[in-house]
Amino acid sequence: MTSTANRLTIRRPDDWHVHLRDGAVMAGVVPHTARQFARAIVMPNLSPPVSTVAEGAAYRDRILAALPQGTDFTPLMVSYLTDGIAPEELRRGFGEGVFTAAKLYPAHATTGSAHGVTDVANIHPALEAMQEIGMPLLVHGEVTDPAVDIFDREAVFIERVMIPLLARFPALKVVFEHITTADAAQFVEAAAPHVGATITPQHLHINRNAMFVGGIRPHAYCLPVAKREHHRLALRKAATGGSAKFFLGTDSAPHAVAAKEAACGCAGIFNAPFALESYVAVFEEEGALDRFEAFASLNGPAFYGLPVNAGTVTLEKAPCEVPAVIDANGTPIVPFHAGETLGWRLVG
Ligand code: DOR
Ligand code: ZN
Repeated sequence: MTSTANRLTIRRPDDWHVHLRDGAVMAGVVPHTARQFARAIVMPNLSPPVSTVAEGAAYRDRILAALPQGTDFTPLMVSYLTDGIAPEELRRGFGEGVFTAAKLYPAHATTGSAHGVTDVANIHPALEAMQEIGMPLLVHGEVTDPAVDIFDREAVFIERVMIPLLARFPALKVVFEHITTADAAQFVEAAAPHVGATITPQHLHINRNAMFVGGIRPHAYCLPVAKREHHRLALRKAATGGSAKFFLGTDSAPHAVAAKEAACGCAGIFNAPFALESYVAVFEEEGALDRFEAFASLNGPAFYGLPVNAGTVTLEKAPCEVPAVIDANGTPIVPFHAGETLGWRLVG
């Protein structure tokens, strides 16, 4: 890392959690991620989901075909765990280098989770295999019990699912994805070294009030939903505090404007276009620019057991205007920070 007052150069970063979608929209969003990141963990919640080795390889090919010519970007694929997932499929996918990890969506927890796991006991054989071969489990950590308040679903998940899961599979590599609470940050910090977490830019910038400023704000809605201010502050400490357990994962989740601005608007924030600019603002505000490289470029590869990237990216202290809407190959999408001017700009 090299830095002056106005420039910050770090090793090329990775996005350890992104939704790239499929078809025409994919071609519109992939370049934003590929412009900033060398690799990305690509979420498999398509319809139908990406579960088998053949589906993972085909989706990877479609992403690579959608890259602008000459782009150096590697999508890392993830198998979507279903109740009936065959452990052999995971072993083969991981062994052949098609799958880097597998994702646990509790059924009906979020967008595209209808085929998710109804009871973790159903995937015990899969988790056994993953533990044995060192394949990371990526977890959407929210209970789906309608009796649990939506703002408590992550904290309750720790007690009801995460603790028993780690007790049963003590050597399983686990990423607690997009954590949103002080509870999750503390839990991960205290857990074994092979338990880590991703943190999104939005959960570092906004608390739950953002969804209700002067009216309902669908573009601030994602899942897990933003929580109270003290949780946001705890996440900022976790991300900028120097622990190797926390790393960058945007959870960029594009939806067309019309699907967000609706009577039942979709969950998801499209932060890919200015993700690094968004994160670096937080590190600057926390007086932790010297720790940005570890969060963005070093902790993730170390956790996954992958090499760090060659090459660097440079951010410059200069106004960066975020447009009100971005055209993703014909689909209008409102980006995170729409209409704001951020203080850092990615220059190369
Ligand atoms: O807000 C979200 N959007 N959270 C998720 O877990 C899924 C994602 C999506 O795919 O839109
Ligand atoms: Zn996600």
